[in-house]
Amino acid sequence: MTNQEVAKITLGENTFDFPVVQGTEGEKAIDISTLRSKTGYITIDEGFANTGACQSAITYIDGEKGKLRYRGIPIEVMAENSTFIETAYLIIYGELPTRKEMSNFSQKVLRNASLHEAMMHFFDGGFPFSAHPMAILSSLLNSVGCYYPYMVTNQREQDLEHFDDAAALLLSKVRTIAAMTYRMKNGLPLIYPKRDLGYSQNFLHMMFTEPYHEYYPHDDITKALDLILLLHADHEQNCSTSTVRMVASSGANLFASVSAGVCALWGPLHGGANMQVIQMLQEIHATGDDGTKFIERAKRGEAKLMGFGHRLYKTYDPRAIILRGAAEKVLNIVKLKDPLLDIARRLEEKARSDSYFIDRNLYPNVDFYSGIILKAIGMPLDMFTVMFAIGRMPGWIAHWREVASKPKGKISRPRQVYIGSPLRDYVKMRYREGEISSDYESDDHKSHGFGSSENASAKA
Ligand code: CMC
Repeated sequence: MTNQEVAKITLGENTFDFPVVQGTEGEKAIDISTLRSKTGYITIDEGFANTGACQSAITYIDGEKGKLRYRGIPIEVMAENSTFIETAYLIIYGELPTRKEMSNFSQKVLRNASLHEAMMHFFDGGFPFSAHPMAILSSLLNSVGCYYPYMVTNQREQDLEHFDDAAALLLSKVRTIAAMTYRMKNGLPLIYPKRDLGYSQNFLHMMFTEPYHEYYPHDDITKALDLILLLHADHEQNCSTSTVRMVASSGANLFASVSAGVCALWGPLHGGANMQVIQMLQEIHATGDDGTKFIERAKRGEAKLMGFGHRLYKTYDPRAIILRGAAEKVLNIVKLKDPLLDIARRLEEKARSDSYFIDRNLYPNVDFYSGIILKAIGMPLDMFTVMFAIGRMPGWIAHWREVASKPKGKISRPRQVYIGSPLRDYVKMRYREGEISSDYESDDHKSHGFGSSENASAKA
């Protein structure tokens, strides 16, 4: 929405007007899309900390106040009342489902749970055992589309026509691929999904059931996993979602776009942080530190307090507050006294009373406590970021659709400020290597400094 306000930018003697765009919650942005054509200037904003890349109706975050809402509904309310699958529906379609819509959607997700039998070969020598599950996940999410060619045409209208099927398929198969990846990597027989199990329960079944021993998770363990997925379901323009949107902006299909999202999520500054939190806590525990020495190292810039800090939140990440409570509950259920939870609590306490962290508004983020729950559930460390990816799938799907449905949507293509070498000559190899001295006169020499037609025409 454009509002009445006008932003004025003065460059030298000239002042230029730019419209102001206002969001539903009063957020304001200066629309500088005509800046270059009017002034010859572009803006530069490394890391896009001040750049709105789009207008979106999916998730609202107020980082200063610690608010997060899915389609207008506070995260705390969703966590208390909803499930991952209902949340996925809300995020993808914009409204809470009716009973019938919910039932149809769940059935559709369930029907898509198994993989095409030909895909099983990927788990039979298609990847080395040492392959990281995120590499496998990204490859197989892209590959799975190849089995449904009518869904991956890269023709917007046709891809959108099959969107409902593709969305349910990806939501379902991301979980099956993840579980089978774990089984394959550990040399375990692959376990197929079951018709009578819910989303998170089916995932735990495929992960932990043995041919000789059916795994029945405690209801509260299933709920804790479901909660983790729900809390990760969307988070507006984060690195992986922006990646999905960027890939989608070229007209690429949903499968290719979410596969790219997995790659972006993998990094330790993004989804990879949940794994690093546990590694950090284990290291602190192993050295007998109570967290004090680690905090000092972080303050000296020698280490990072993983699971702390966020580009948007300048207070507690609301997801971290929910997960801190859930972590204690899960440890009680599994009757586990995990020293890592005590270290995490101590780190949080110390950091929250230390001026380094206070001055920089560094608070625990979603990854700080989620790892403790995943560890208690029995999830191996290298699957942690995969859990984030399963959770984030509804958000990626919804954002792909927002991009693909926009009439006259533009391809994402930022500009740059070039800081490399100014125009220079192409020097042929024999001159670079000194085989022919630079003052040697020959026909060849005449051309040795004029490699580019741009240069030649400049000299003409
Ligand atoms: N430990 C110690 N210092 C930190 C930390 C941290 N975790 N995070 C930020 N800082 C410092 C940083 O060194 C900088 O200090 P200075 O002003 O003296 O240079 C200041 O705080 C601002 O940090 P920044 O790196 O400029 O902030 P950013 O917005 O670019 O980065 C972040 C955000 C999440 C990448 C960063 O806080 C971080 O690396 N945290 C640890 C990794 C992590 O937990 N990532 C998960 C994020 S939440 C899940 C998700 O959506 O991905």
